[in-house]
Amino acid sequence: MRKIVIAIDGHSSCGKSTTAKLVAKEMGYAYIDTGAMYRAVTLYFLQNYVDFTNPKKIQQALEHIHITFERNPKTLRNEVFLNGLNVEDEIRKMYISDKVSEVSVIPEVRHALVHQQQKMGKRRGVVMDGRDIGTAVFPDAEVKVFMTADVITRAKRRQRELLEKNEMVPLNTIIENLQKRDLIDSTRKESPLIQAPDAALLDTSYLTIDEQVDFVLRKVAEKFCSA
Ligand code: DC
Repeated sequence: MRKIVIAIDGHSSCGKSTTAKLVAKEMGYAYIDTGAMYRAVTLYFLQNYVDFTNPKKIQQALEHIHITFERNPKTLRNEVFLNGLNVEDEIRKMYISDKVSEVSVIPEVRHALVHQQQKMGKRRGVVMDGRDIGTAVFPDAEVKVFMTADVITRAKRRQRELLEKNEMVPLNTIIENLQKRDLIDSTRKESPLIQAPDAALLDTSYLTIDEQVDFVLRKVAEKFCSA
């Protein structure tokens, strides 16, 4: 069967990565979490005191950043590696969430990561989640879904994920972080977070994970039937 690109964009913490992972598994496709790539760059910048306002230093730093995904045989999860080091847990922490939107508005960062993402999906057969996959990375993606949910549902989901990693963060702090990131993500100049005109809207506020996965798989089936 012809391989396609499935682009899943949307707001933070509305279930994009869980849905994308399960769709990828169902289809036998690779899953690429592009948010993890922006988080890994943020981690590198913070660890190396890179000045976010200095394009020359940013460009130099980007030349030293190598991001890969590797499957963990224990968890069977695709985990993110920064220069050969597994940073999967570190990049999910709150201090990274606090800074990642500032890093992802930087044009040099976006150009480098979009280019890498396009290379990763060149042979198609990928499910990619992020903010600009259907608009900038793969505007020709065969299936595009734009996910959203109300902010309280998203904050509770995020709080549970952080708790599982022993990080206790008050709900209000998470709500503020999500709202701040939504605003920066959707108002930035370079590939802002917007629903592509040909993306199907999926509000996950009252849906189970299975229902979300079914929605995307139905869109895939419709695409193959209409081809
Ligand atoms: O999906 P996430 O919350 O892990 O993403 C972290 C940040 O990265 C998010 O605030 C916006 C940014 N991002 C982006 O600008 N473009 C993408 N394709 C993916 C994420």
